[in-house]
Amino acid sequence: MRTERSCFLTMLQAVALLPTMALKDSHTTKKFSEEPEFERPIGNHTFFLGREAVLGCSVLNLGKHKVGWLRAEDQTVLTMHERAVLGSRYAVNMDPPRTWQLRIRPLRAEDRGCYMCQINTQPTMTWQIGCIDVFVPPDIMSDDTSGDVSVQELENATLTCRATGHPAPKITWRREDHEPILLKKPMSREFEKVESYVGSSMPLWRVDRRQMGAFLCIASNDVPPAVSKRITLNVNFAPTVKVPNQLLGAPLGTDVKLKPKYTIREEKSSYKVSMWLTIRQFSKSDIGTYNCVSTNSLGKSEGTLRLYEIKLNSPEDFSNQISIAGGLTEAAKGNSNETLFITRTLILISLFCAVYLNVTC
Ligand SMILES: *[C@@H]1O[C@H](CO)[C@@H](O)[C@H](O)[C@H]1NC(C)=O
Ligand SMILES: *[C@@H]1O[C@H](CO)[C@@H](O)[C@H](O)[C@H]1NC(C)=O
Ligand SMILES: *[C@@H]1O[C@H](CO)[C@@H](O)[C@H](O)[C@H]1NC(C)=O
Repeated sequence: MRTERSCFLTMLQAVALLPTMALKDSHTTKKFSEEPEFERPIGNHTFFLGREAVLGCSVLNLGKHKVGWLRAEDQTVLTMHERAVLGSRYAVNMDPPRTWQLRIRPLRAEDRGCYMCQINTQPTMTWQIGCIDVFVPPDIMSDDTSGDVSVQELENATLTCRATGHPAPKITWRREDHEPILLKKPMSREFEKVESYVGSSMPLWRVDRRQMGAFLCIASNDVPPAVSKRITLNVNFAPTVKVPNQLLGAPLGTDVKLKPKYTIREEKSSYKVSMWLTIRQFSKSDIGTYNCVSTNSLGKSEGTLRLYEIKLNSPEDFSNQISIAGGLTEAAKGNSNETLFITRTLILISLFCAVYLNVTC
Protein backbone atom coordinates (compact mmCIF):
# COMPACT_ATOMS: atom_id res chain seq x y z
CA MET A 1 0.00 0.00 0.00
CA ARG A 2 2.84 2.28 0.87
CA THR A 3 4.65 1.62 -2.35
CA GLU A 4 1.47 2.18 -4.32
CA ARG A 5 1.03 5.48 -2.66
CA SER A 6 4.58 6.63 -3.30
CA CYS A 7 4.19 5.44 -6.86
CA PHE A 8 1.11 7.56 -7.32
CA LEU A 9 2.71 10.60 -5.87
CA THR A 10 5.80 10.15 -7.95
CA MET A 11 3.69 9.87 -11.01
CA LEU A 12 1.92 13.04 -10.07
CA GLN A 13 5.29 14.70 -9.45
CA ALA A 14 4.10 16.04 -6.20
CA VAL A 15 4.98 15.80 -2.58
CA ALA A 16 2.62 14.01 -0.25
CA LEU A 17 -0.04 16.28 1.07
CA LEU A 18 -1.43 16.06 4.52
CA PRO A 19 -5.15 16.63 4.57
CA THR A 20 -4.79 19.80 6.62
CA MET A 21 -2.25 21.24 4.25
CA ALA A 22 -4.37 20.25 1.33
CA LEU A 23 -7.34 21.95 2.88
CA LYS A 24 -5.44 25.21 3.24
CA ASP A 25 -3.93 24.99 -0.20
CA SER A 26 -7.12 24.30 -2.03
CA HIS A 27 -8.36 27.75 -1.31
CA THR A 28 -5.28 29.41 -2.69
CA THR A 29 -4.99 27.28 -5.83
CA LYS A 30 -4.90 29.62 -8.77
CA LYS A 31 -7.28 28.75 -11.55
CA PHE A 32 -6.20 29.56 -15.10
CA SER A 33 -8.61 29.00 -17.92
CA GLU A 34 -6.62 25.97 -19.10
CA GLU A 35 -6.24 24.58 -15.62
CA PRO A 36 -8.40 21.57 -14.70
CA GLU A 37 -11.35 22.27 -12.50
CA PHE A 38 -14.17 20.29 -11.02
CA GLU A 39 -17.47 20.54 -12.78
CA ARG A 40 -19.56 19.76 -9.69
CA PRO A 41 -19.08 18.54 -6.13
CA ILE A 42 -18.87 14.80 -5.52
CA GLY A 43 -21.58 15.11 -2.89
CA ASN A 44 -22.37 12.86 0.03
CA HIS A 45 -24.17 9.62 -0.71
CA THR A 46 -25.70 6.66 1.08
CA PHE A 47 -25.35 3.04 0.00
CA PHE A 48 -26.41 -0.31 1.44
CA LEU A 49 -24.06 -2.80 2.98
CA GLY A 50 -23.00 -5.46 0.47
CA ARG A 51 -24.00 -3.37 -2.53
CA GLU A 52 -21.90 -1.06 -4.66
CA ALA A 53 -20.89 2.51 -3.90
CA VAL A 54 -20.30 4.84 -6.84
CA LEU A 55 -18.77 8.30 -6.47
CA GLY A 56 -18.33 10.54 -9.48
CA CYS A 57 -15.65 13.15 -10.03
CA SER A 58 -16.24 15.36 -13.08
CA VAL A 59 -13.25 17.30 -14.35
CA LEU A 60 -13.16 20.07 -16.92
CA ASN A 61 -9.98 20.91 -18.84
CA LEU A 62 -8.08 17.90 -17.62
CA GLY A 63 -5.55 18.24 -20.42
CA LYS A 64 -2.56 16.03 -19.79
CA HIS A 65 -3.21 15.81 -16.07
CA LYS A 66 -4.32 12.69 -14.34
CA VAL A 67 -7.04 11.90 -11.80
CA GLY A 68 -6.67 9.75 -8.72
CA TRP A 69 -9.00 8.60 -5.94
CA LEU A 70 -7.74 8.42 -2.36
CA ARG A 71 -9.30 7.49 0.93
CA ALA A 72 -9.39 10.86 2.69
CA GLU A 73 -8.84 9.56 6.19
CA ASP A 74 -5.38 8.06 5.63
CA GLN A 75 -4.60 9.25 2.09
CA THR A 76 -4.45 5.67 0.81
CA VAL A 77 -4.41 5.68 -2.96
CA LEU A 78 -7.25 3.60 -4.38
CA THR A 79 -7.12 4.32 -8.09
CA MET A 80 -4.75 6.09 -10.46
CA HIS A 81 -6.29 7.49 -13.57
CA GLU A 82 -7.87 4.43 -15.23
CA ARG A 83 -6.38 1.79 -12.99
CA ALA A 84 -7.36 0.40 -9.56
CA VAL A 85 -4.36 -0.04 -7.32
CA LEU A 86 -5.81 -1.34 -4.10
CA GLY A 87 -7.51 -4.71 -4.08
CA SER A 88 -10.33 -6.12 -6.10
CA ARG A 89 -13.10 -4.22 -4.30
CA TYR A 90 -12.07 -0.93 -5.87
CA ALA A 91 -12.51 -0.01 -9.50
CA VAL A 92 -12.35 3.15 -11.54
CA ASN A 93 -14.64 3.66 -14.40
CA MET A 94 -14.80 6.41 -16.99
CA ASP A 95 -18.26 7.85 -17.42
CA PRO A 96 -17.96 9.89 -20.64
CA PRO A 97 -17.24 12.57 -21.32
CA ARG A 98 -15.33 13.52 -18.19
CA THR A 99 -16.43 11.74 -15.03
CA TRP A 100 -14.11 9.44 -13.12
CA GLN A 101 -16.18 7.04 -11.10
CA LEU A 102 -14.82 5.32 -8.04
CA ARG A 103 -16.66 2.03 -7.48
CA ILE A 104 -16.42 0.02 -4.28
CA ARG A 105 -18.06 -3.37 -4.01
CA PRO A 106 -19.12 -5.31 -2.08
CA LEU A 107 -19.52 -2.46 0.35
CA ARG A 108 -18.44 -3.00 3.97
CA ALA A 109 -19.33 -0.98 7.06
CA GLU A 110 -15.73 0.21 7.32
CA ASP A 111 -15.98 1.82 3.87
CA ARG A 112 -18.06 4.53 5.54
CA GLY A 113 -16.07 7.76 5.25
CA CYS A 114 -14.80 10.36 2.84
CA TYR A 115 -12.99 9.95 -0.47
CA MET A 116 -10.81 12.41 -2.27
CA CYS A 117 -10.62 12.98 -6.00
CA GLN A 118 -7.23 14.51 -6.80
CA ILE A 119 -5.75 16.05 -9.97
CA ASN A 120 -1.99 16.35 -10.29
CA THR A 121 -1.88 20.07 -10.99
CA GLN A 122 1.23 22.01 -10.08
CA PRO A 123 2.50 23.43 -7.89
CA THR A 124 -0.36 22.17 -5.73
CA MET A 125 -2.81 19.44 -6.40
CA THR A 126 -6.47 20.16 -6.99
CA TRP A 127 -8.84 18.04 -5.04
CA GLN A 128 -12.37 17.65 -3.75
CA ILE A 129 -13.99 15.36 -1.24
CA GLY A 130 -17.23 13.37 -1.09
CA CYS A 131 -18.42 11.07 1.66
CA ILE A 132 -20.36 7.84 1.77
CA ASP A 133 -22.55 6.42 4.49
CA VAL A 134 -23.10 2.68 4.58
CA PHE A 135 -26.56 1.62 5.74
CA VAL A 136 -26.70 -1.67 7.61
CA PRO A 137 -29.98 -3.54 8.23
CA PRO A 138 -30.95 -4.22 11.87
CA ASP A 139 -29.83 -7.34 13.65
CA ILE A 140 -30.90 -8.39 17.14
CA MET A 141 -28.04 -9.12 19.50
CA SER A 142 -29.15 -12.26 21.26
CA ASP A 143 -26.58 -11.88 24.07
CA ASP A 144 -28.06 -8.53 25.12
CA THR A 145 -31.68 -9.54 24.63
CA SER A 146 -34.00 -11.14 27.18
CA GLY A 147 -34.75 -14.81 26.94
CA ASP A 148 -38.15 -15.88 28.21
CA VAL A 149 -38.87 -14.09 31.47
CA SER A 150 -40.59 -15.67 34.46
CA VAL A 151 -41.60 -13.65 37.53
CA GLN A 152 -43.89 -13.91 40.54
CA GLU A 153 -46.94 -11.71 40.34
CA LEU A 154 -46.30 -8.18 41.74
CA GLU A 155 -42.58 -8.41 41.09
CA ASN A 156 -40.96 -5.98 38.69
CA ALA A 157 -39.81 -7.27 35.33
CA THR A 158 -37.92 -5.72 32.44
CA LEU A 159 -37.93 -7.02 28.89
CA THR A 160 -34.80 -6.01 27.03
CA CYS A 161 -33.91 -6.15 23.37
CA ARG A 162 -30.83 -4.72 21.70
CA ALA A 163 -30.01 -4.48 18.04
CA THR A 164 -27.20 -3.38 15.80
CA GLY A 165 -27.59 -1.58 12.49
CA HIS A 166 -26.95 1.78 10.87
CA PRO A 167 -28.73 4.11 11.37
CA ALA A 168 -29.35 2.95 14.95
CA PRO A 169 -32.46 0.73 14.89
CA LYS A 170 -35.64 1.65 16.68
CA ILE A 171 -36.97 -1.04 19.03
CA THR A 172 -40.75 -1.48 19.16
CA TRP A 173 -42.62 -3.90 21.41
CA ARG A 174 -45.94 -5.48 20.56
CA ARG A 175 -47.94 -8.40 21.84
CA GLU A 176 -47.90 -11.38 19.54
CA ASP A 177 -51.67 -11.81 19.93
CA HIS A 178 -52.22 -8.17 18.78
CA GLU A 179 -53.88 -7.33 22.11
CA PRO A 180 -52.82 -4.01 23.63
CA ILE A 181 -49.89 -3.98 26.02
CA LEU A 182 -50.89 -3.21 29.61
CA LEU A 183 -48.49 -0.81 31.25
CA LYS A 184 -48.50 0.52 34.78
CA LYS A 185 -46.67 3.69 35.70
CA PRO A 186 -44.52 3.32 38.80
CA MET A 187 -46.53 3.88 41.96
CA SER A 188 -49.79 3.75 40.02
CA ARG A 189 -52.38 1.01 40.18
CA GLU A 190 -53.99 1.98 36.91
CA PHE A 191 -53.22 0.18 33.70
CA GLU A 192 -52.68 2.02 30.48
CA LYS A 193 -53.38 0.18 27.22
CA VAL A 194 -50.93 0.85 24.42
CA GLU A 195 -50.64 -0.71 20.97
CA SER A 196 -46.88 -0.68 21.14
CA TYR A 197 -44.02 0.49 23.28
CA VAL A 198 -40.86 2.05 21.88
CA GLY A 199 -37.55 1.57 23.66
CA SER A 200 -34.94 -1.10 24.01
CA SER A 201 -36.05 -1.88 27.59
CA MET A 202 -39.69 -2.24 28.54
CA PRO A 203 -40.02 -1.95 32.33
CA LEU A 204 -43.06 -3.64 33.85
CA TRP A 205 -43.78 -2.46 37.35
CA ARG A 206 -45.49 -4.91 39.73
CA VAL A 207 -46.42 -7.41 37.04
CA ASP A 208 -50.01 -8.59 36.82
CA ARG A 209 -51.15 -11.94 35.43
CA ARG A 210 -53.02 -10.12 32.64
CA GLN A 211 -49.67 -8.96 31.29
CA MET A 212 -48.59 -12.53 30.60
CA GLY A 213 -47.99 -13.60 27.07
CA ALA A 214 -45.67 -13.55 24.11
CA PHE A 215 -44.13 -10.23 23.14
CA LEU A 216 -42.33 -9.31 19.95
CA CYS A 217 -39.41 -6.95 19.99
CA ILE A 218 -39.10 -5.49 16.51
CA ALA A 219 -35.90 -3.76 15.40
CA SER A 220 -36.17 -1.48 12.39
CA ASN A 221 -34.22 1.29 10.71
CA ASP A 222 -34.30 2.73 7.20
CA VAL A 223 -32.87 -0.50 5.83
CA PRO A 224 -35.20 -3.43 5.28
CA PRO A 225 -35.85 -6.02 6.50
CA ALA A 226 -36.96 -5.28 10.06
CA VAL A 227 -36.23 -8.19 12.39
CA SER A 228 -38.03 -9.42 15.47
CA LYS A 229 -37.60 -11.71 18.44
CA ARG A 230 -40.28 -13.38 20.49
CA ILE A 231 -39.99 -13.10 24.28
CA THR A 232 -42.47 -14.82 26.56
CA LEU A 233 -43.41 -13.28 29.88
CA ASN A 234 -44.62 -15.85 32.42
CA VAL A 235 -46.26 -14.65 35.60
CA ASN A 236 -46.54 -17.14 38.43
CA PHE A 237 -49.29 -16.76 40.99
CA ALA A 238 -51.30 -18.78 43.47
CA PRO A 239 -54.58 -20.16 42.16
CA THR A 240 -58.01 -18.72 42.76
CA VAL A 241 -61.25 -20.54 42.07
CA LYS A 242 -64.64 -19.09 41.31
CA VAL A 243 -67.86 -21.08 41.04
CA PRO A 244 -70.69 -18.84 39.83
CA ASN A 245 -73.41 -21.53 39.56
CA GLN A 246 -73.21 -23.31 42.79
CA LEU A 247 -76.39 -25.32 42.51
CA LEU A 248 -77.09 -27.74 39.74
CA GLY A 249 -80.13 -29.95 39.36
CA ALA A 250 -80.40 -33.10 37.28
CA PRO A 251 -82.92 -35.91 36.88
CA LEU A 252 -81.59 -39.28 37.92
CA GLY A 253 -80.39 -41.50 35.11
CA THR A 254 -79.14 -38.66 32.92
CA ASP A 255 -75.62 -37.66 32.14
CA VAL A 256 -74.66 -34.52 33.92
CA LYS A 257 -72.09 -32.33 32.32
CA LEU A 258 -70.33 -29.92 34.60
CA LYS A 259 -68.35 -27.25 32.90
CA PRO A 260 -65.99 -25.85 35.44
CA LYS A 261 -63.84 -23.20 34.03
CA TYR A 262 -60.51 -22.48 35.56
CA THR A 263 -57.63 -20.27 34.82
CA ILE A 264 -54.21 -21.49 34.02
CA ARG A 265 -51.02 -20.17 32.71
CA GLU A 266 -50.76 -20.76 29.01
CA GLU A 267 -48.91 -19.46 26.09
CA LYS A 268 -50.56 -17.04 23.67
CA SER A 269 -51.43 -14.86 26.64
CA SER A 270 -54.50 -16.79 27.60
CA TYR A 271 -54.54 -18.40 30.97
CA LYS A 272 -58.12 -19.57 30.78
CA VAL A 273 -59.14 -23.15 30.07
CA SER A 274 -62.51 -24.83 30.11
CA MET A 275 -62.91 -28.14 31.88
CA TRP A 276 -65.74 -30.57 31.66
CA LEU A 277 -66.78 -33.29 34.01
CA THR A 278 -69.32 -35.76 32.90
CA ILE A 279 -70.93 -38.12 35.38
CA ARG A 280 -72.45 -41.01 33.50
CA GLN A 281 -75.70 -42.50 34.67
CA PHE A 282 -76.31 -39.95 37.33
CA SER A 283 -77.57 -41.75 40.39
CA LYS A 284 -78.63 -40.89 43.90
CA SER A 285 -75.16 -41.63 45.16
CA ASP A 286 -73.77 -38.87 42.93
CA ILE A 287 -75.87 -36.24 44.64
CA GLY A 288 -73.79 -34.01 46.79
CA THR A 289 -71.16 -31.38 46.93
CA TYR A 290 -68.29 -31.16 44.49
CA ASN A 291 -65.17 -29.19 45.02
CA CYS A 292 -63.03 -27.83 42.29
CA VAL A 293 -59.53 -27.69 43.66
CA SER A 294 -56.65 -25.95 42.03
CA THR A 295 -53.17 -26.20 43.43
CA ASN A 296 -49.71 -25.29 42.40
CA SER A 297 -46.47 -24.71 44.20
CA LEU A 298 -47.66 -21.23 45.17
CA GLY A 299 -50.86 -22.29 46.83
CA LYS A 300 -54.23 -23.92 46.64
CA SER A 301 -57.75 -22.74 45.99
CA GLU A 302 -61.10 -24.42 45.72
CA GLY A 303 -64.64 -23.79 44.67
CA THR A 304 -67.79 -25.70 45.66
CA LEU A 305 -70.63 -26.83 43.48
CA ARG A 306 -73.73 -28.62 44.70
CA LEU A 307 -75.46 -31.26 42.59
CA TYR A 308 -79.02 -32.23 43.45
CA GLU A 309 -81.78 -34.36 42.01
CA ILE A 310 -84.65 -33.00 39.90
CA LYS A 311 -87.73 -35.17 40.22
CA LEU A 312 -89.40 -35.94 36.88
CA ASN A 313 -92.91 -37.35 36.28
CA SER A 314 -91.91 -39.87 33.65
CA PRO A 315 -88.74 -41.15 32.06
CA GLU A 316 -89.81 -39.61 28.67
CA ASP A 317 -89.37 -36.17 30.14
CA PHE A 318 -85.66 -36.57 29.99
CA SER A 319 -85.07 -39.39 27.52
CA ASN A 320 -83.83 -36.98 24.84
CA GLN A 321 -81.87 -34.93 27.23
CA ILE A 322 -78.39 -36.20 27.44
CA SER A 323 -76.67 -33.53 29.36
CA ILE A 324 -77.37 -30.54 31.51
CA ALA A 325 -75.12 -27.53 31.62
CA GLY A 326 -73.24 -27.38 34.81
CA GLY A 327 -71.44 -24.98 37.00
CA LEU A 328 -68.76 -22.63 36.07
CA THR A 329 -65.58 -22.78 38.00
CA GLU A 330 -62.76 -20.40 37.61
CA ALA A 331 -59.34 -20.93 38.92
CA ALA A 332 -56.07 -19.31 38.20
CA LYS A 333 -52.67 -20.71 38.52
CA GLY A 334 -49.36 -19.93 37.08
CA ASN A 335 -46.75 -22.46 37.88
CA SER A 336 -45.70 -25.53 35.99
CA ASN A 337 -46.29 -27.68 39.03
CA GLU A 338 -50.03 -27.73 39.18
CA THR A 339 -52.92 -30.10 39.64
CA LEU A 340 -56.60 -29.59 39.29
CA PHE A 341 -59.14 -32.09 40.43
CA ILE A 342 -62.73 -32.34 41.42
CA THR A 343 -63.71 -34.09 44.56
CA ARG A 344 -66.96 -35.00 46.09
CA THR A 345 -65.63 -36.35 49.25
CA LEU A 346 -62.10 -37.10 50.14
CA ILE A 347 -62.69 -40.76 49.45
CA LEU A 348 -63.82 -40.06 45.91
CA ILE A 349 -60.93 -37.85 44.87
CA SER A 350 -59.21 -40.31 42.65
CA LEU A 351 -62.44 -41.48 41.06
CA PHE A 352 -63.52 -38.01 39.98
CA CYS A 353 -60.09 -37.01 39.11
CA ALA A 354 -59.98 -39.93 36.71
CA VAL A 355 -63.31 -38.94 35.22
CA TYR A 356 -62.06 -35.44 34.67
CA LEU A 357 -58.90 -36.63 33.00
CA ASN A 358 -60.81 -38.97 30.70
CA VAL A 359 -63.05 -36.19 29.56
CA THR A 360 -60.57 -33.45 29.03
CA CYS A 361 -57.28 -34.99 28.10
C1 LIG B 1 -20.49 15.55 3.70
O1 LIG B 1 -20.19 14.79 4.82
C2 LIG B 1 -19.09 15.29 5.57
C3 LIG B 1 -18.78 14.29 6.67
O2 LIG B 1 -19.91 13.82 7.27
C4 LIG B 1 -19.45 16.67 6.10
O3 LIG B 1 -18.35 17.20 6.82
C5 LIG B 1 -19.78 17.57 4.93
O4 LIG B 1 -20.21 18.82 5.40
C6 LIG B 1 -20.87 16.98 4.06
N1 LIG B 1 -21.03 17.77 2.88
C7 LIG B 1 -22.21 18.08 2.40
C8 LIG B 1 -22.23 18.87 1.15
O5 LIG B 1 -23.23 17.73 2.96
C1 LIG C 1 -40.11 -2.09 41.53
O1 LIG C 1 -39.80 -0.86 40.91
C2 LIG C 1 -40.15 0.27 41.69
C3 LIG C 1 -39.95 1.49 40.82
O2 LIG C 1 -38.78 1.41 40.06
C4 LIG C 1 -39.31 0.28 42.94
O3 LIG C 1 -39.63 1.39 43.72
C5 LIG C 1 -39.60 -1.00 43.70
O4 LIG C 1 -38.76 -1.07 44.84
C6 LIG C 1 -39.36 -2.21 42.84
N1 LIG C 1 -39.82 -3.40 43.54
C7 LIG C 1 -39.10 -4.50 43.62
C8 LIG C 1 -39.72 -5.63 44.34
O5 LIG C 1 -38.00 -4.58 43.13
C1 LIG D 1 -44.14 -30.70 42.03
O1 LIG D 1 -44.03 -30.49 43.43
C2 LIG D 1 -43.73 -31.69 44.16
C3 LIG D 1 -43.70 -31.34 45.62
O2 LIG D 1 -44.63 -30.35 45.90
C4 LIG D 1 -42.37 -32.23 43.67
O3 LIG D 1 -42.11 -33.45 44.33
C5 LIG D 1 -42.42 -32.47 42.16
O4 LIG D 1 -41.16 -32.87 41.71
C6 LIG D 1 -42.84 -31.20 41.44
N1 LIG D 1 -42.99 -31.47 40.03
C7 LIG D 1 -42.56 -30.63 39.10
C8 LIG D 1 -42.81 -31.04 37.71
O5 LIG D 1 -42.00 -29.59 39.38
